[in-house]
Amino acid sequence: MRIGRGIRVKKLLGEGVLRILRTRNLVDKTLRIKRNGDFLVIPLTMEVQREELRKLGVEGDLVVEGFEEATSTPSLFENLRNVLSDDDLKIVPRSYDVIGDVCILQLPKELYDRRKIIGEVFLKTMKNIRMVLNKTEPLSGEYRVGGYEVLAGEGSMETVYREHGCIFKLDISKVFFTPRLSAERIRVASLVKPGEVVCDLFAGIGPFSIIIAKKNPSVKVHACDINPYAYKYLVENIRLNRVEDRVKAYLGDARELSEKSLKNVGDRIIMNLPMSSEMYLDAAKNALKKRGGIVHLHVFLEKDTDPDEKYARISESFRRLGCETKLLSSRRIREVAPFKYHWGFDIEVKPENAELQASSS
Ligand SMILES: C[S@@+](CC[C@H](N)C(=O)[O-])C[C@H]1O[C@@H](n2cnc3c(N)ncnc32)[C@H](O)[C@@H]1O
Repeated sequence: MRIGRGIRVKKLLGEGVLRILRTRNLVDKTLRIKRNGDFLVIPLTMEVQREELRKLGVEGDLVVEGFEEATSTPSLFENLRNVLSDDDLKIVPRSYDVIGDVCILQLPKELYDRRKIIGEVFLKTMKNIRMVLNKTEPLSGEYRVGGYEVLAGEGSMETVYREHGCIFKLDISKVFFTPRLSAERIRVASLVKPGEVVCDLFAGIGPFSIIIAKKNPSVKVHACDINPYAYKYLVENIRLNRVEDRVKAYLGDARELSEKSLKNVGDRIIMNLPMSSEMYLDAAKNALKKRGGIVHLHVFLEKDTDPDEKYARISESFRRLGCETKLLSSRRIREVAPFKYHWGFDIEVKPENAELQASSS
């Protein structure tokens, strides 16, 4: 038994929290994770402030307590130390993403000539990793896809990722995907009520849609995306997770679909297109049932922007569309760049003449 720092989190959120902490090397692998009823206590490698964890989208209680020892293996950074100078070691990113058996780094240009050897160390040290990529281009364009180069490993960039009991096939060079929304996905899925109809307007390969459908057998989900590759994987993932009876996939523009097939069908609308979701509030209104419902709106916020002011602007935009709004909750989901946050608003949206409209339909 050794006394160490840890974070106490709900078991339900454990998978997502562990994923985030592991990619930042914050989980102390020399100690065993503890299971206490509905909670996990995860041992930490260093002292972390609650605020820093919140920035990563991790909520939990920081504790100091006894943990059992685990058997140890050389760490990634011990192995990197064997091939890099002290200066290079200082700028190797401490965080990376693991999607299925693909590990994604974003190396600074100063490490360009050392990138292959760094990739090899990651490949050799990390269990279950088949390929190591370097992100060379930021997410861009309508499809929100980045550019990647292979540092180590073989085969295609297609992989299978597991989350909350669901499986997702994807190729990160063709579609948007991030494991860093794991906690947000299960949070939204836990809010959905039996019998609801959900419209996931920017569904990508389907993580929100499929997790919601898997956890809520009586719901119907309409999932659309404009990227043909995302649509292809969405269709495949619906089949792989056996939710064909609950999730319907659409290829196309969310606004156009909201005026046709998705008009007035949804109790709940998911708008995970933080770059430009505010330009689609009309689509959310169209897709909502005439009596209104809940909109999960994702946006980017600069550090200096007050979320209340942002919400006031969103509310005003809905008002101009003839809708009343009520803010149910809002949260910083993750930091996407220094001083820039992915922020989520849960908003109740109701057309001003909702009763009238509903009774005349
Ligand atoms: C930030 S990604 C989110 C994907 C998914 N919700 C997730 O969490 O992985 C936004 C997605 O919206 C899609 N998209 C962009 N503009 C769109 C539009 N006008 N209509 C439908 N989908 C769109 C992109 O192709 C991309 O897959």
